[in-house]
Amino acid sequence: MAARSCVLILVMVLAVVLNTSAQTCQTGLVNTMNQFPDLSTLVQFINEAGLTDRINNTDITDNVTFVAPNNNAFDAFNVTLQQNNLTFANITDKDNNRAGSIILYHVITGVGALDITKTSNGQSLTTMLEGHNLTVSKGANNSVTFIGGANNATLQTASPGEVSVCFSKIYIVNRVLLPNATLASIPIHVSGASTSAITGQWAFALSIALAAALIM
Ligand SMILES: *[C@@H]1O[C@H](CO)[C@@H](O)[C@H](O)[C@H]1NC(C)=O
Ligand SMILES: *[C@@H]1O[C@H](CO)[C@@H](O)[C@H](O)[C@H]1NC(C)=O
Ligand SMILES: *[C@@H]1O[C@H](CO)[C@@H](O)[C@H](O)[C@H]1NC(C)=O
Ligand SMILES: *[C@@H]1O[C@H](CO)[C@@H](O)[C@H](O)[C@H]1NC(C)=O
Ligand SMILES: *[C@@H]1O[C@H](CO)[C@@H](O)[C@H](O)[C@H]1NC(C)=O
Ligand SMILES: *[C@@H]1O[C@H](CO)[C@@H](O)[C@H](O)[C@H]1NC(C)=O
Ligand SMILES: *[C@@H]1O[C@H](CO)[C@@H](O)[C@H](O)[C@H]1NC(C)=O
Ligand SMILES: *[C@@H]1O[C@H](CO)[C@@H](O)[C@H](O)[C@H]1NC(C)=O
Ligand SMILES: *[C@@H]1O[C@H](CO)[C@@H](O)[C@H](O)[C@H]1NC(C)=O
Repeated sequence: MAARSCVLILVMVLAVVLNTSAQTCQTGLVNTMNQFPDLSTLVQFINEAGLTDRINNTDITDNVTFVAPNNNAFDAFNVTLQQNNLTFANITDKDNNRAGSIILYHVITGVGALDITKTSNGQSLTTMLEGHNLTVSKGANNSVTFIGGANNATLQTASPGEVSVCFSKIYIVNRVLLPNATLASIPIHVSGASTSAITGQWAFALSIALAAALIM
C-alpha cells in the first residue's frame, strides 16, 4: 500500500515536472500562487485590487521576482486595518486603490528571477511601484529580509521559501510590505497607469500611522 502510494506520487511528480518544462511559460504567476494554500489571501488581495491579469502576466511580459506575503502576514495586516476601521474594500476601491500600489511594491523588476543567494547585503532592488525600492538584508543563518519603507519582511524558512515559475521567482515572506507607514502617503493605484497623485479627501481620512502594528 505504502509502496504503491510512493510510486503513484513519483509518477505524479514526474508528470508535473515534465508538464512544467513543456509549458514554456504558459503558467502565470497568479495561477502558481493559487497552488499554495498559504498564499490564498494574497491571491484574494490581488483579485480585489484588480491586478490579477497584470500580475499573472508579469512572467510573460517582464520576468519578475515576486515577494509574496503568506496568510500569517495578512493576519497581521488585517489587524492593522481593523485597528483603523478599514477593510480590504476600503483600500481596493478603484478610487482609493492603495492596495494596488502595495502589491506593485512586492514586484521586483529589472533583475529577472532574482537568485537571492547572489544578492549582497544592502543591495537596492527596483519595484514596480515607481520610486520605491526594497533593500536586501542578510542576517544570521543565511536569513534574508526585504527592508521596506515602513516595515520589513523575512523570507520564510519553512518550505517552500521560494518557487520558480518559468523565468520568474516567488519568495514567500512573513509580512505585507508597506512603502510608507502613513497610508495616505501610499499612492493610489490607477489601472493602466503606474501611480497617481495622492488625493485630498483620503489623505485626510487616512493620515493614520500604520507602522506600530505592522512591525509586530
Ligand atoms: C494566468 O495565465 C495563464 C497563462 O496565460 C492562464 O492559463 C491562466 O488562466 C491565468 N490565470 C488567471 C487567474 O488569470
Ligand atoms: C525572460 O527570460 C527568458 C530566459 O532568460 C528570456 O528568454 C526572455 O527574453 C525574458 N523575457 C523578458 C520579457 O525579459
Ligand atoms: C473605529 O471605530 C470605533 C467604533 O466606531 C471607534 O471607537 C474608534 O475610534 C475608531 N478607530 C479609528 C482609528 O478610527
Ligand atoms: C483579511 O480581511 C479581509 C477583509 O478585509 C478578508 O476578506 C480576508 O479573508 C482577511 N484575511 C485574513 C488572513 O484574515
Ligand atoms: C470603509 O468602508 C466602510 C464600509 O463601506 C465605510 O463605512 C467607511 O467609511 C470606510 N472608511 C473610510 C476611512 O473611508
Ligand atoms: C532603486 O534601485 C536601483 C537598482 O539598484 C537603483 O538604480 C535606483 O537608483 C534605486 N532607486 C531608488 C529610488 O532608490
Ligand atoms: C542558527 O541556526 C542554529 C542551528 O540551527 C540555531 O541554533 C541558531 O539559533 C540559529 N540562529 C539564528 C540567529 O537564527
Ligand atoms: C512617507 O511619506 C512621508 C510624507 O509623504 C514622507 O515625508 C516620507 O519620506 C515617506 N517615507 C518613506 C519611507 O518613503
Ligand atoms: C527594518 O530593518 C532595518 C535594518 O535592519 C531596521 O533599521 C528597521 O528598524 C527595521 N524596521 C522595522 C519596522 O522593523
